[in-house]
Amino acid sequence: MIIVTNRGPARFTRAPDGSFSAQRGAGGIVGVLGPNLSAEKDERIQWVATAMTDDDCAAVAAGKAELPGVDLELLVLEPRVHRLHYDVISNATLWFLHHGLFDLPRRPRFDHRFRDAWDAYVTVNRAFVERIADSASPGDVALVHDYQLSLVPGLLTKTRPDLRIVHFTHTPFCGPNSIRVLPDDVAHDIARSMVQVPCGFHTSRWASAFEASMTAVLGHDHRPTRVFVSPFAADAGDVLETRDSTATRDAIVELENHLGDRKLILRSDRIDPSKNIVRGFLAFDLLLREHPEWRERVVFVAMLNPSRESLPEYQAYRQEVEQAAAMVNERWGRADWTPVELDLRDDFPRAVAGYARYDVLLVNSLKDGLNLVAKEGPIVNQRHGVVCLSPEAGAFDELREAVLAVHPYDVDQNARALHDALSMPSDVRRERATRLRELASARTPAMWLGDLVDAAGPRR
Ligand code: F6P
Repeated sequence: MIIVTNRGPARFTRAPDGSFSAQRGAGGIVGVLGPNLSAEKDERIQWVATAMTDDDCAAVAAGKAELPGVDLELLVLEPRVHRLHYDVISNATLWFLHHGLFDLPRRPRFDHRFRDAWDAYVTVNRAFVERIADSASPGDVALVHDYQLSLVPGLLTKTRPDLRIVHFTHTPFCGPNSIRVLPDDVAHDIARSMVQVPCGFHTSRWASAFEASMTAVLGHDHRPTRVFVSPFAADAGDVLETRDSTATRDAIVELENHLGDRKLILRSDRIDPSKNIVRGFLAFDLLLREHPEWRERVVFVAMLNPSRESLPEYQAYRQEVEQAAAMVNERWGRADWTPVELDLRDDFPRAVAGYARYDVLLVNSLKDGLNLVAKEGPIVNQRHGVVCLSPEAGAFDELREAVLAVHPYDVDQNARALHDALSMPSDVRRERATRLRELASARTPAMWLGDLVDAAGPRR
């Protein structure tokens, strides 16, 4: 089996003595799937991905980009080509497209710079195909992931027709009106590639949008090969093990000492406009205005990982996030109470400590393929915490009966939902949290992987 992702399952760090160490890669799929695959014994697992950092490239050059249980192949790309593929097309164009983030009167603008970037995108997709074609055994299953690699299915089908290829999208997929924003030939190339293999999504909403978009671009004569829905799963064993680790136990004690008997509203996200972090702070501001009884009795901890900072949109959004938090603190803060605490450390054990301690978990994404935090949090939580979840997150379809819905644009409604969550009677909280834990752990990463392999079909 070959797993193909843009970001690999580990990032490498070079120590001053020249040795390399591997850390778990950031992000849902690689974070969960990486440890699960290394546990597989029966089959040879290859993983093809991009060398994302200078240290990754150095590890490849030194022959040290290695992981136990996985044959890892990191592609070292020419820096300019890498930047255009990752920043300009994958993030500033396709991520924005699928999450509905374009400010359409102003962006996007498709000009010669976009065309250079599109050429780089094609080059990177070809480089992936060459590497897979060189290393795959006859009849192998190739599981290709996400919008960074949307041309791989079509190119790989031509180069290696013996392979059983599946494409899985972890983001939402845009609908037919949005896909028309792309230049016609670009939309056409993406669609022609993807319809050639089975394509998977986290919810039927994104699957239906994909089918409608394919029809809008290609007409009714080019139906996708097969479209399937398989929601990704949290690795309950792994998050519970992390909760019981020394690092997390220490972080829980630190958090408890800091919070005392105050309630905790938590969010844990990459700093990304799709996560809707600013409106979350505005809702908290409104809660403190409308319900003075919560002043000094609740702390909003936002564990935020800076992300994609080479893009001006992300730099600007980070500033807005910091300003919104500062505004709430200036308005309501007291000498011994900071209402909003930003924690920008990228520290998984600490995030899991937050999961264990929250009273309310806020996930108010504008759009989100799944949102693994909404599943991991309830599995780990020890206080019958309430999850306020956006219906625009894919996980909502599985968790809806035990969460409070938060409309991502309705700040008033969000403030009311936060109040309802904080004031919920303890017996109701217990009942809902128990049900939520069942729903969040109903599926396993192995079930998800099995669905993808089934979609690949039998060996031909
Ligand atoms: O949230 C998960 C995810 O959608 C991945 O599937 C996707 O490849 C990733 O985010 C992109 O994040 P980054 O640009 O940090 O690699």
